[in-house]
Amino acid sequence: MSHYHLDTAESYKKAYQESLENPEAFWAGIAKDNFLWQKPWDKTFDWDQKNTEVKWFAGGKLNITENLLDRHLVHNGDKTAIIFEPNDLDESPQKISYSDLAKSVNKMANVLKDQGVGKGDRVCIYLPMIPELAIAVLACARIGAIHSVVFAGFSSTALAARINDCDCTLVITSDGGFRGAKTIDLKNIVDQALEDCPGIQKTLVVARTNQKINMVPGRDFWLKPLFDQASDHCPPTIMDAEDPLFILYTSGSTGKPKGMVHTCGGYMVYTAYTFKNVFQYTEQDIYWCSADIGWITGHSYILYGPLANGATTVMFEGVPSYPDFGRFWAIIEKYKITQFYTAPTAIRALAKESLDFVTPYDLSSLKVLGTVGEPINEEAWQWYFNHIGQGKVPIVDTWWQTETGGVMIAPLPGITRAIPTYATLPLPGIQPVLLDEQGNEIKTPEGSGLLFIKHPWPSIARTIWGDHQRYVQTYFGAQKDKYMTGDGATRDAQGNYRITGRVDDVIIVSGHNLGTAPIEDAINEHELVAESAVIGVPHPIKGNSLFGFIILKNSFENEVSLKNQINQSIVQHIGPIAKLDEMVFTPGLPKTRSGKIMRRILRNIAQKNFDALGDTSTLLNPEIVKDLIAMMQKK
Ligand code: WT7
Repeated sequence: MSHYHLDTAESYKKAYQESLENPEAFWAGIAKDNFLWQKPWDKTFDWDQKNTEVKWFAGGKLNITENLLDRHLVHNGDKTAIIFEPNDLDESPQKISYSDLAKSVNKMANVLKDQGVGKGDRVCIYLPMIPELAIAVLACARIGAIHSVVFAGFSSTALAARINDCDCTLVITSDGGFRGAKTIDLKNIVDQALEDCPGIQKTLVVARTNQKINMVPGRDFWLKPLFDQASDHCPPTIMDAEDPLFILYTSGSTGKPKGMVHTCGGYMVYTAYTFKNVFQYTEQDIYWCSADIGWITGHSYILYGPLANGATTVMFEGVPSYPDFGRFWAIIEKYKITQFYTAPTAIRALAKESLDFVTPYDLSSLKVLGTVGEPINEEAWQWYFNHIGQGKVPIVDTWWQTETGGVMIAPLPGITRAIPTYATLPLPGIQPVLLDEQGNEIKTPEGSGLLFIKHPWPSIARTIWGDHQRYVQTYFGAQKDKYMTGDGATRDAQGNYRITGRVDDVIIVSGHNLGTAPIEDAINEHELVAESAVIGVPHPIKGNSLFGFIILKNSFENEVSLKNQINQSIVQHIGPIAKLDEMVFTPGLPKTRSGKIMRRILRNIAQKNFDALGDTSTLLNPEIVKDLIAMMQKK
């Protein structure tokens, strides 16, 4: 018997117990009964610990789009798959039925095929939140091409690095994008990126803003004429469960971004299963996740998870503050949203505004509220619960990562007892453990430590594109048989987990995962900069803000202009999300004798916690601490 729907505390407990005792039988049950397979798998689970290779459902044949689209056409073809809510209020929304979505995906798949794209080829998608983004993603999946969606806020340099890392041959983009009162010149950014991307043969351009752009003959093609001519029938390419479905880049604590590889079968099963249960999805629901499809949240919980369940999912092109701070709540009222999923940073930003932006709207359709991306503080939780949830809608604080593919630790709404700031209990199949600094498992019910996961689950990322060694090192380097999350957590006596934050050099800013190393690299590109260190400082809205300690090569004339130039360098290399909120110019950085920057000391100095610095005498350059304190006291 499979436990696809966990609808009571007992069914959760029973499923969790079974998943612990026999993970293979548990997932085989879920996978077999609820999805369309062209051929059953040979082996449910295979874990080669020596080479850190994980397989789920290997030998099983499927195409994920048959599960997302075709199988719903029989009874639900007219049901709305995607509601598109444009940025501007004067543009009409679109309701795209399952059968129309299937047709568009088939057409787009044929366009890609005509351009020479085939199974295993990498396609870069750099689009705003418009229906073509969803269609492009699913079209790749239809023909077995590996999509690599790059968030349309990334700069040309960041885009080029991602295109080149996985040797994409084609880019799908648009002339521009609407975001609040701004337009973003996407095609221009692509043009700049492609100067450094010799592997790109073609670009397909969606007309969205109708702004003037440059089209390179022979390379750039408007999508519409090709799309209109294409047949709406494209047979699905049959994939192995372990064939790659997509690559999605995430920051690492060092160097270049990591291209996380997710595969077809396990990812499908896990995202569908967790969507169903974490949101207690039922057939009449109208579900909205406000993330961008450029992040994993959008992949798993705007597209794959909801569509696998035949749900109606909303895609919103704009931002929460446009035309005013009531936009989210207006959308909830307009479509009678039943499940709403957003980031704590958005909640904090909206909670800061007047309640007059909330009270006009009827939010009584809501059944579940979700959060993701960073720890949610008690105050934001209470505001969300009282003002959006009207004091009665359960909140699910969902902990997971790009690498985990789907939600790992979260309450089941209305079933698990929610505790503000706690992600609470692991979902079936997930075995969290806490380790102390020495790597020993904390066996007591209560404890605090480093969060690891014991047994691979179906949607764990299988590798880092082109660098399996880095994958092994990053996630299984500390413990050969446990996945290292990079987060710290505490556990209460009932087994509830509270995630306390990153324990490595990754900083979560407004829910975006940023590595310190790439930001420092961008700062160091400035000709006057010798060295820099970036740290995170708690921030009331963003969660963390970025603080840079910067050593200059020479003296400088105009501090304000230099700071602007440094931020411009960051914008050019990464994007506006990584700009520093504050920077100080310092003659040196506190270092250990082996030359490692002591970030803990910098974090305390930036927050003016001068009493918390501890023993600094063992530093290579203890005198620098006094200088830094003096500088901060003047600030
Ligand atoms: C990191 C992963 C998963 C989709 C969005 C972010 C932090 C995520 C929570 C939460 C506390 C959280 C962790 C994690 N994080 N959700 N509910 N409570 N922290 O994906 O960009 O891969 O970032 O986000 O630190 O490691 P990501």
